[in-house]
Amino acid sequence: IQGRPHWPQIVLTGFMGAGKSTLGALLARHLGVPFYDSDSLIEAATGRRIADLFAHEGEARFRDLEHQAIASVASQPCTVLALGGGSLMHPGTRLLLCSTYMIYLEITAETARARIANPSDRPLARSAQLDELLALREPIYRSTASLILEAHDELPTVTLARVLAEL
Ligand code: S3P
Repeated sequence: IQGRPHWPQIVLTGFMGAGKSTLGALLARHLGVPFYDSDSLIEAATGRRIADLFAHEGEARFRDLEHQAIASVASQPCTVLALGGGSLMHPGTRLLLCSTYMIYLEITAETARARIANPSDRPLARSAQLDELLALREPIYRSTASLILEAHDELPTVTLARVLAEL
């Protein structure tokens, strides 16, 4: 991928707990390209934690900040970007990323529940309506994806090998 500027940005999408950040970091390291994580970009730009922003500014303000953070790195060729689970619900963000190579890491609500170890870091994980939230987002994840990978029960290195086989 390095030295091939026509390669699009690789974007990881999917629900909370899908493993977007873990796989994104692995993939970027493997390819030798920069890695961005939208939650980390927001925290760096504001100097505040995601949970704190949700609690004190509200979700709408968080989504604005998320859109701005993604806009600052969107579509940079030869980079990897892991999104927050709700990022693609913003139509403007979808537009920013429409020419990227989007990988949807698919998991069930059960898997998400089991994997989200510390809900206080993820304000929406506390919601009893995790299934409804996933059902609402699933069509967007699916329709924007260049590649869909089920990522239920495997090690990130196994998923990495499956992604590399597709590139
Ligand atoms: C969110 C997912 C989180 C984070 C925020 C909101 C969501 O990111 O952006 O808590 O709306 O699904 P992860 O998907 O990395 O957990």
